[in-house]
Amino acid sequence: MAGATRTRTYTAALLYALALQLLACASSTAASASPTAAEARALLRWKSTLPPPKPDSTGAGPLSSWSPTTAACSSWAGVTCGADGRVAGIALPGAGLAGTLAALDLAAFPALTGLNLSGNRLEGAIPAGISRLTSLVSLDLSDNALTGGIPPALATLPALRVLVLRNNSLGSAIPASLGRLRTLERLDLQAARLVSTLPPEMGGMAGLKFLDLSANNLSGGLPPSFAGMSKMKELYLSRNKLSGTIPPEIFKNWPELTLLYLHYNSLAGTIPPEIGEAKKLRRLSLLSNNLTGVIPADISGLVSLQMLHLGQNCLTGPIPTSLGNLTQLVILVLSFNNLTGTVPAEIGSLTALQDLDLNNNQLGGELPATLSMLKDLSGLSLASNNFVGTVPNFCSQKLVSIELYGNNFSGGFPLTFCQMTSLEMLDLHSNQLSGQLPSCIWDLQDLMFMDLSSNALSGDIHVLASANSTLSLESLHLANNRFTGGFPSIIQYLKMLSVLDLGGNNFSGAIPSWISSRLPLIRFLRLRSNMFNGSIPLQLLQLSHLQLLDLANNNFDGNIPCGLTNLTAMIRPQTEFNMRSTVHHQIFHLEAAFYYANRVDVNWKMKTYEFQGAIALMTGIDLSGNSIDGEIPTELTNLQGLRFLNLSRNHLSGTIPENIGDLKLLESLDLSWNELSGHIPSSISELISLSSLNLSNNMLSGEIPTGNQLQTLADPSIYSNNFGLRGFPLSKSCTRDSSIQMDQSKESEGVYVYYSIIAGVVFGLWLWFGSLIFSAPWRLSFFYYVDFIHRKLVR
Ligand SMILES: *[C@@H]1O[C@H](CO)[C@@H](O)[C@H](O)[C@H]1NC(C)=O
Ligand SMILES: *[C@@H]1O[C@H](CO)[C@@H](O)[C@H](O)[C@H]1NC(C)=O
Ligand SMILES: *[C@@H]1O[C@H](CO)[C@@H](O)[C@H](O)[C@H]1NC(C)=O
Ligand SMILES: *[C@@H]1O[C@H](CO)[C@@H](O)[C@H](O)[C@H]1NC(C)=O
Ligand SMILES: *[C@@H]1O[C@H](CO)[C@@H](O)[C@H](O)[C@H]1NC(C)=O
Ligand SMILES: *[C@@H]1O[C@H](CO)[C@@H](O)[C@H](O)[C@H]1NC(C)=O
Ligand SMILES: *[C@@H]1O[C@H](CO)[C@@H](O)[C@H](O)[C@H]1NC(C)=O
Ligand SMILES: *[C@@H]1O[C@H](CO)[C@@H](O)[C@H](O)[C@H]1NC(C)=O
Ligand SMILES: *[C@@H]1O[C@H](CO)[C@@H](O)[C@H](O)[C@H]1NC(C)=O
Ligand SMILES: *[C@@H]1O[C@H](CO)[C@@H](O)[C@H](O)[C@H]1NC(C)=O
Ligand SMILES: *[C@@H]1O[C@H](CO)[C@@H](O)[C@H](O)[C@H]1NC(C)=O
Ligand SMILES: *[C@@H]1O[C@H](CO)[C@@H](O)[C@H](O)[C@H]1NC(C)=O
Repeated sequence: MAGATRTRTYTAALLYALALQLLACASSTAASASPTAAEARALLRWKSTLPPPKPDSTGAGPLSSWSPTTAACSSWAGVTCGADGRVAGIALPGAGLAGTLAALDLAAFPALTGLNLSGNRLEGAIPAGISRLTSLVSLDLSDNALTGGIPPALATLPALRVLVLRNNSLGSAIPASLGRLRTLERLDLQAARLVSTLPPEMGGMAGLKFLDLSANNLSGGLPPSFAGMSKMKELYLSRNKLSGTIPPEIFKNWPELTLLYLHYNSLAGTIPPEIGEAKKLRRLSLLSNNLTGVIPADISGLVSLQMLHLGQNCLTGPIPTSLGNLTQLVILVLSFNNLTGTVPAEIGSLTALQDLDLNNNQLGGELPATLSMLKDLSGLSLASNNFVGTVPNFCSQKLVSIELYGNNFSGGFPLTFCQMTSLEMLDLHSNQLSGQLPSCIWDLQDLMFMDLSSNALSGDIHVLASANSTLSLESLHLANNRFTGGFPSIIQYLKMLSVLDLGGNNFSGAIPSWISSRLPLIRFLRLRSNMFNGSIPLQLLQLSHLQLLDLANNNFDGNIPCGLTNLTAMIRPQTEFNMRSTVHHQIFHLEAAFYYANRVDVNWKMKTYEFQGAIALMTGIDLSGNSIDGEIPTELTNLQGLRFLNLSRNHLSGTIPENIGDLKLLESLDLSWNELSGHIPSSISELISLSSLNLSNNMLSGEIPTGNQLQTLADPSIYSNNFGLRGFPLSKSCTRDSSIQMDQSKESEGVYVYYSIIAGVVFGLWLWFGSLIFSAPWRLSFFYYVDFIHRKLVR
């Protein structure tokens, strides 16, 4: 029995061993015949290192289908396999993944051809082990937060055709070894914080068709060896710091070139004549470089060209007549150069043109009549040149934006403008236009911005009874003309109006009482230097958006009305650049932004300043040079957003409000030439931003307060001609009866927001401008910002 038992025991042991062996055998078969398990393990291990995902709408995380109990090839999100059962693709774009790639065992995926993890929140470095993905054809890690540079090991991937790493924080240099990627067709490293020069070795990427290195910090020249990329179709190098010249070789050696964007760099030298050899080139942008010399006549060789943008360079000489050969042109921008001569009549051959921008050059003479052949034009800017003669007939019904300002156009207001029913922006300021303003202009339903200031227009602006009540005008500038008559009654139909400048005309009569009910959105009201009379209507105080009220140099009389605290926009400082300044339109599949500038002249600190964008932040009241009497209402001191206050040259009596020091933002205060009496309130020393003060020519007496900013206002004349003021700065020198300097020089604030157009690029000038403003502390004076902006943006 014992033997039998032992035998059985033995048998059992044998069976057990056999079973074990079978099991081991089975699992080893699985390991060699079904690599998916190893791949699945590698994926699961990586998943386990990622931070817990945000659940999606179904409550599950993006990788919830990745489970040891299901088959990776058939049921895991984003995983695809080849016929051999190996993982061939991993595509998890925008899946909400966070974490790093460090724990992903890349060696486990020798058959992977496509990896797409774009649009996640991945951090850390791209592992050097990426070189183990020997079958990889396409790698897309764009729109993540990856750091640590581009691993040179990428260059060893023998089959790579697409490499997309754009919009990461990679940093470091472009590895020269990338030049070994001979099969690469698409390389996209846009906005990857790359800092380096362009390695000449990159010219070795002989298969490259698409190269995007824009928006990095690349410097140095564009190596002539790039000519070796002979398949090149689209090259984007814009928004870097590239210098040197444009190598002519590329135009000879890139027969397939269709797009070349080099804008916002520091490229110098001339435009090589060889450029004419790029017969397939459709879009060319050299905007904002340092290019000199003439536009080569050979440019007419670019027979496929649809967009030519050469703005903001230092180009000289004439516009070549051969440009008329580019009959496919849709966009032609030559603005901000030093071009001379006239506009060639050949420009009329460019019948596909939708946007013509020649602004800010030295072009002159009369415009060719052939311009009337451009029937598809929707943007036209010929501003800031020396054009003379009458404005030609523009016959395009599609015009959205017309800028002819800053020339010497003469003659009457062009009646053809009345037919442009799509017109949204019309800027004719600073010309010599004369005669009456045709009333048909008020039929343009879509017109939002109209600036006719500084011309010689005259006559009454009278409305037709049939005036259309759905006008869109937000900004109306009629300043510095010779208009007469009463406050234009058409204005009551402009419900959207936020800027109204009628200054420097000969308008007369009273401000109509409908102003508050008809213009509820008005922010900037400038009526200065006219013949308006009557009292300041109470209704004016109901304008809760009003932040600039300039009634200076008119014949207003009566008191400053009560209820100033209803001007709520003046109670707190304006802190937002919340003024519309663009009209957006699609031109030729591109987003075109037509910028307009709400320029408003502001008189403060004894000068006239032209504010553009920053006007949105300006708050002030100027009632100077009228016949206003009575006292200064104490409630004025509640308007604590005020940056300037000018009540000079009126008949104001009584005392200066005790709480004047509450106007903490005040930078300019002028109460001179009134009949104010009593002492100067000591709170005035609390006006810590004050840089311009004038209390002269009143009947003030007593001690001049001291302290803070007042100590810097050392010119005794600001207190002169009063009834016995004492103290600094008068005690230091005798009270002179010096006349106050009346410097009327005009300084431009210089925020040149010109119209600009470019493919697919949003020019965040305005946004940038905004962030610039708000990244700086507010305690500095407003004027500081103006200067700051000036330095930053003026080219
Ligand atoms: C990656 O996926 C995104 C989203 O589907 C897609 O837009 C992108 O083209 C893909 N990348 C590549 C290289 O195919
Ligand atoms: C860059 O990537 C981040 C993160 O995915 C995304 O939010 C952002 O929109 C991307 N920026 C651009 C310009 O594509
Ligand atoms: C670009 O590089 C320069 C010099 O290396 C550096 O001073 C600058 O901050 C960089 N700019 C950006 C946007 O990375
Ligand atoms: C253009 O060149 C001038 C002088 O050579 C230089 O001062 C200026 O900074 C350059 N501008 C740009 C945008 O590179
Ligand atoms: C244009 O030319 C004038 C004089 O010829 C020169 O003063 C000016 O600086 C030039 N402007 C540019 C942008 O090159
Ligand atoms: C280009 O235009 C010029 C005159 O403007 C003309 O003589 C020439 O033949 C044109 N060339 C082509 C290729 O059309
Ligand atoms: C433009 O007109 C003004 C005033 O008539 C004149 O001073 C100036 O010389 C003119 N400019 C040109 C280029 O004709
Ligand atoms: C305004 O003009 C439009 C289009 O011309 C017209 O349809 C509408 O009736 C007009 N409205 C008034 C109040 O005249
Ligand atoms: C302005 O109009 C008044 C009449 O309303 C007239 O007496 C005066 O001469 C005009 N001034 C100018 C500068 O045209
Ligand atoms: C305003 O001036 C007009 C003449 O332009 C005159 O008829 C009217 O009486 C004046 N109104 C007041 C209140 O002075
Ligand atoms: C100021 O606003 C209040 C409340 O909206 C209103 O009752 C009052 O009449 C306004 N005052 C003036 C002078 O408009
Ligand atoms: C105030 O207005 C008067 C008259 O309009 C002007 O002469 C003076 O320069 C202004 N004061 C300031 C500080 O701008």
